This record gives sequence, C-alpha cells and structure tokens, in this order.
Amino acid sequence: MKRRGGAQGRASERRLQQVFLVGEPRVELRVFAGAEELAAAAAEEFADRARDAVSRRGRFTVVLPGGSSPTLFFEVLADQRLGIPWSKVHVFWGDERFVPPAHPESNFRAAQEALLARVRIPQANVHRIRTEALSPNAAAAIYEQEIRTFFRLSAGRFPRFDLVVLGLGADGHTASLFPGSEALSEDVRMVVAPLIAKLGIQRITLTLPMFNSARAVLFLVTGKQKAEALARALEGGEGSEVLPTPLVRPKRGPLLWMVDRAAAGMLRR
Ligand code: 6PG
Repeated sequence: MKRRGGAQGRASERRLQQVFLVGEPRVELRVFAGAEELAAAAAEEFADRARDAVSRRGRFTVVLPGGSSPTLFFEVLADQRLGIPWSKVHVFWGDERFVPPAHPESNFRAAQEALLARVRIPQANVHRIRTEALSPNAAAAIYEQEIRTFFRLSAGRFPRFDLVVLGLGADGHTASLFPGSEALSEDVRMVVAPLIAKLGIQRITLTLPMFNSARAVLFLVTGKQKAEALARALEGGEGSEVLPTPLVRPKRGPLLWMVDRAAAGMLRR
C-alpha cells in the first residue's frame, strides 16, 4: 500500500492518522487513532454524502450495517449539529437476523435505539427487513419486492444506493455474506436467506450486486480482534480467496475503508 500525502481540510481529515491508496482505483484506506475518531469521521462522511444526495436528487438512500461496532457511529450520527436532512433520508439494512424487531439481536433494534429514535426520520423512511414473515426466505422475498418497488426497478436491474455501510466480522464476513458461501455467487437476486453453516441458522442479506451498484461503499472496522480479518481483506494471503470483501467493488463509486489503529495493527505499511 502506498501512503498518500498529509490530510488537509475537514475536521474528519484532521483526525486522520494515515491514508493509504490500496493500489486499486477508487479504493482508499483511512486509519484513525481510535474508535471515537473513527465514528466522528464516518459520521461526517455520512453527513456530507447525505447533504449532497438530497441537494442533487431530493433524497439520500443508505444501507446500514448490523452488529455491535456501529453503535458509536450511530450515536454520533444522531448529533443534530451534523445537519443531516433526516426527513429526506431513507434507511435500509444490509442484513438481519431472523428475530423479531424488538429482539436484542435485531440489527433494526440496534439502529433504532442508538440512532433512529433520536432523529426526526419519518417512519415511512425506515425500511426494515420484515422478520415477522413466515420464514427467512419469505422475509428475503418481501424485502426484495420492497426495494424493487421503492426504486421502481424492472427485473434484472439493481438499485443505486447513495451509500452502503458495512462491517467486517473477525472471520471476514460482511453483512451476512460469509466466506465460501454460495450466496457470494448470487448475481440475480437482491436479497437471499443463506444458511450460515457455522451458526446453524439462516440470516437475510443483501447480495454483492446490491453493494457493487451503489454510489459509494464504506467499511467501518474497529478493534484489535478485526486486525487479522482486515489484513486478509486488504492484502490477501491464505484463505482470502473465499472472502466476500475482495468481491465488494462498487462499479461506479469509491470504496472507503475507515478503520482504527487497533484494527490496522497487522497491515503491512
Ligand atoms: C451482523 C452484521 C455483520 C457485522 C459483523 C461485525 O448482522 O452481524 O451485519 O456483518 O457487521 O459481524 O460485527 P460486530 O460489529 O458486532 O463486530
């Protein structure tokens, strides 16, 4: 990886410790001192993109990540000083566990509590995955239809979300696309419900074409426990051939990795 010149300009860049060009067009790695600096910078990136999308197209469509890492990011996003035009923001999810929306493991509940309940976003703009459906497969089909209707898409077309925010599991999964999963080769459906072998359950997840048709994709990775997965995701090595992350390459927009120093600890400089 080649280090780019010093960061100038916005507060988020002043927090920046290091910027690397990952050696591919439009793929950039930004390393921050800690989780707080990372969350603040990611929130500013979100806010900038939201304001830009609303001014250009009258709305901002964003896919939110699941898991626990985004909680601090969500809490910072709720700060009204960011000037996010929430009435024009539409939120979707990259994946969901097949649990009720009030369940402690629900990705919807995590975002609802840390962010959505604290901002003035219209209920109709919160597009959660309907896990009260009869089965994970039914929930996936319903979600796909909701997305297709919202974006007014004909068959075979994928939506252009303004921003997709993703996390990274310690095993290298993202959303609910796990290493070696058959779901990694899905290029027709928007939403699937793969059996997660290591967990013995099905989850609902957007597919790779949904991420790769977005205007921008942002990975948020924090903590030492993600260092090995991040190094494999960015630098390859043994086992990286089955990872989903090398397959996340938005066709017409940037791919940003925003990480903290602890997660970057195993990267070759
Ligand atoms: C999920 C997520 C998943 C998550 C990673 C990281 O539903 O679990 O969508 O892809 O981003 O597992 O999770 P943590 O942030 O909890 O480490």
